[in-house]
Amino acid sequence: MTGDRYSKRSGHSNKDRSIERLIVALDVSDPGRARELVEALSPLGIGFKVGLELFLAGGPQFVEELAGRCRIFLDLKFHDIPNTVAAAVRSAASLKVWMLNVHAAGGRKMLAAAREAAEKADHRPILLAVTVLTSMDDQEMAETGCPGSAADRVVRLARLAEECSLDGVVCSPLEISPVKESVPGHFITVTPGIRAAEEDAGDQSRIATPAGAIRAGGDYLVVGRPITRAADPVEAARSILADMGINR
Ligand code: C5P
Repeated sequence: MTGDRYSKRSGHSNKDRSIERLIVALDVSDPGRARELVEALSPLGIGFKVGLELFLAGGPQFVEELAGRCRIFLDLKFHDIPNTVAAAVRSAASLKVWMLNVHAAGGRKMLAAAREAAEKADHRPILLAVTVLTSMDDQEMAETGCPGSAADRVVRLARLAEECSLDGVVCSPLEISPVKESVPGHFITVTPGIRAAEEDAGDQSRIATPAGAIRAGGDYLVVGRPITRAADPVEAARSILADMGINR
């Protein structure tokens, strides 16, 4: 039942999930460098994430070009009124991206409008809700008027996203288990905040190793700087895949 629901919602079958479970964040401002990374890393069977930096540098045409070559997660985190978000989802889906996301904090009406727009698209993207940024800790959450733990808020937002029939959430690896336990059916978790045990966390707060995220039941892992800033990005990606139990 769960697999059916997943494929009905997004047009991607469960079989697809055995590949591209590692998504590399192309956080670079030079489209040429992004092309090089895609060329070098694509043979490993991984997906790619385009965020604000590269989107603003390369524009929608560049995203469409990449989406014609590999699976693209367009990470623009829409957060606006329902009508505006629905229009943005339509425009993003027309670029034939694999995944895109909106902020769960935009609320029920906005999430429903986003879902409806995604469902009507010719190329139905996987639609994710961003919960709590992986850079935020409990203290920072309190400062923004959200008392309580990040995990509780992630679960609350994940339930809301599921009620609005989104396909899954972006959360930290520390919240994979609570989300999987609290949200019924197959509901995808996409997790940034992935670091090797010995690595510098940078601005990320809620982190885990690739193996830890997979053990917790994570579906897709997003890794940026540990790969894009490595002396040998292919070797770095291979080592992360190996930690995930995928040998390529
Ligand atoms: O370089 P690093 O591995 O920290 O990259 C993580 C990527 O995931 C960045 O592109 C960041 O924007 C994104 N992201 C995140 N936390 C979220 C959603 C997206 O770190 N909640």
